[in-house]
Amino acid sequence: MSLPEETFLTLGMESSCDDTAVAVLRGERQVEAELLSSQLDDHVPFGGVIPEFAARRHLEAFLPLTEEALRRAGVVDPRREIGLVAVTAGPGLMGSLLVGVMAAKALSLAWNVPLLGVNHLEGHIFANVVSHPELSPPFLCMVVSGGHTEIVLVKKFGTYVFLGGTRDDAAGEAYDKVAKVLGLPYPGGPVVDKLAASGNPDAFDFPSPLKGSPEIVFSFSGLKTAVLTRIKKLRNEGIEISVEDVCASFQKAVTDSLMTKLRLASRRTGVRSVSISGGVAANSALRNALLQEKGWKVYLPPKNRCTDNAVMIAAAGYSAFRRGARSSLDLAPDPSWELWKK
Ligand code: KG4
Ligand code: ZN
Repeated sequence: MSLPEETFLTLGMESSCDDTAVAVLRGERQVEAELLSSQLDDHVPFGGVIPEFAARRHLEAFLPLTEEALRRAGVVDPRREIGLVAVTAGPGLMGSLLVGVMAAKALSLAWNVPLLGVNHLEGHIFANVVSHPELSPPFLCMVVSGGHTEIVLVKKFGTYVFLGGTRDDAAGEAYDKVAKVLGLPYPGGPVVDKLAASGNPDAFDFPSPLKGSPEIVFSFSGLKTAVLTRIKKLRNEGIEISVEDVCASFQKAVTDSLMTKLRLASRRTGVRSVSISGGVAANSALRNALLQEKGWKVYLPPKNRCTDNAVMIAAAGYSAFRRGARSSLDLAPDPSWELWKK
């Protein structure tokens, strides 16, 4: 059955990490329903995501969320009304991905509706496409989250070129680690961002990693050590430190590094349409730095679309489906699926 664009409904499902998300999207970007069950509070006591625990919570959450999403979207008979089931098939945590993929296969089979496995990073790119109808390739997208720091050239939808990434920690991971060092709660990014607002970004000169290197490559693991060493030294000397100043100075170093490499990517490719996505895309310093950049057309996703969500998966899935992509019931999750490797 093929549904016309204006009535085509995609059910999007996301469970690559610690959020279970389901959305119903009409056509390219009209959101009919969007639900998210966050496991954050369950993982907070451990200071990070526990994979096995995450998978079990996805299992409990998926079907109730799906039922509620269909109800909110006014879907009475999914067999006739849903045109596609799009599910994150990688990269991510194996157990978590497996729950989503199995749930999507079951629905696809029961409803006799096409199935499509979506790459999580392509989803992040589409978080911008959903929000900005005028955004069209070629453009750059820097995905910055707890698990990713990658600059991708979107040549056209479906054709992606990897321009550079991190050689160790992801940007969000650096935020989380520095927060831990400072005794702040997980996830660290939002807290550090908030405290940085009342701190002095020039109080400490933390190194902006690999700033002078001609390569598009990031490294954030050393930054955490630099922050830790400096705090310890000052404390040993009996000098009181301002947590706000540490947060602001650390945030400046991360933002400088991200912006330096993004500029390099823009110069090398000649592409001046620039977007960001992922949890760290909600960061106020990064957003401000991008908006101040001269000569670029900047696209920022709204803050609720920076972090993992199912609208972006439905949108990426629908776009790929229209380009002819299909998955069979043999679809298997791939925890390290690289978007640019076909
Ligand atoms: O995309 P996301 O929800 O999950 C994945 O990692 O895929 O990103 C979560 C990451 C965490 O590391 C969190 O600390 C960071 O994004 N984050 C932020 C901010 N909000 C979330 N980092 C900096 N500033 C923020 N405002
Ligand atoms: Zn993500």
